[in-house]
Amino acid sequence: MKVILVNGSPKQKGCTYTALKEVEKQLNKNNIETEIFWIGNKPISGCLGCGGCSKTGKCVIDDKVNEFLEKVKESDGFVFGSPVHFAASSGMLSSFMDRVFYGRGKLFANKVASAVVSCRRGGATATVDEINKYFLISNMPIVSSQYWNMVHGNTPEEVLKDAEGMQTMRTLGNNMAWLLQSIEAGKKAGVNLPENEDIIRTNFIR
Ligand SMILES: Cc1cc2nc3c(=O)[nH]c(=O)nc-3n(C[C@H](O)[C@H](O)[C@H](O)COP(=O)(O)O)c2cc1C
Repeated sequence: MKVILVNGSPKQKGCTYTALKEVEKQLNKNNIETEIFWIGNKPISGCLGCGGCSKTGKCVIDDKVNEFLEKVKESDGFVFGSPVHFAASSGMLSSFMDRVFYGRGKLFANKVASAVVSCRRGGATATVDEINKYFLISNMPIVSSQYWNMVHGNTPEEVLKDAEGMQTMRTLGNNMAWLLQSIEAGKKAGVNLPENEDIIRTNFIR
């Protein structure tokens, strides 16, 4: 079983990375394979709404989004991490997630997910809520922890001193491993994935 941890900060080894590493360590202890995927520090475009992805499965803008999509099929779970920027996720992660999730509900369905955020002071829960919305619309079981998944600090060293935040990350890693193992055991015991109806789409005018 594999989990990809997405670092949505323009800093490769900053605070968000430090939080994700703590989750990763715990996943590894529970025999879950992991990969940290950094979205980079080059501008990431928002979704153009062109519908090109419905024909090829890929985004017409060939960047980190397509690189990530290649990895989704072989992954069982995801942690999306972001620094808090003006009480929201980083603009880059927001653009990245819009393009990753648009029209791809089936690709992510039944895979577990969680959001992790790092902030200096405020806006953390709003950011967690924002990231969770992608999972809530994609049939993804969301993994919780002992507190909302946040760490506090402006530098990795400060984050390491946030004892409660770091513990929250470890608990999240354990909880995600437990859920993945439970789903796997369920499959072996003959528990099938839910068979959902074809989606009914209305625009509230008919
Ligand atoms: C553009 C920008 C906006 C920010 N806005 C907030 C904010 O609203 N609340 C907050 O507590 N910290 C804010 N910060 C601080 C970062 O969230 C914080 O330093 C975070 O831990 C950095 O994570 P990173 O090292 O992974 O990028 C902001 C930082 C930047 C660059």
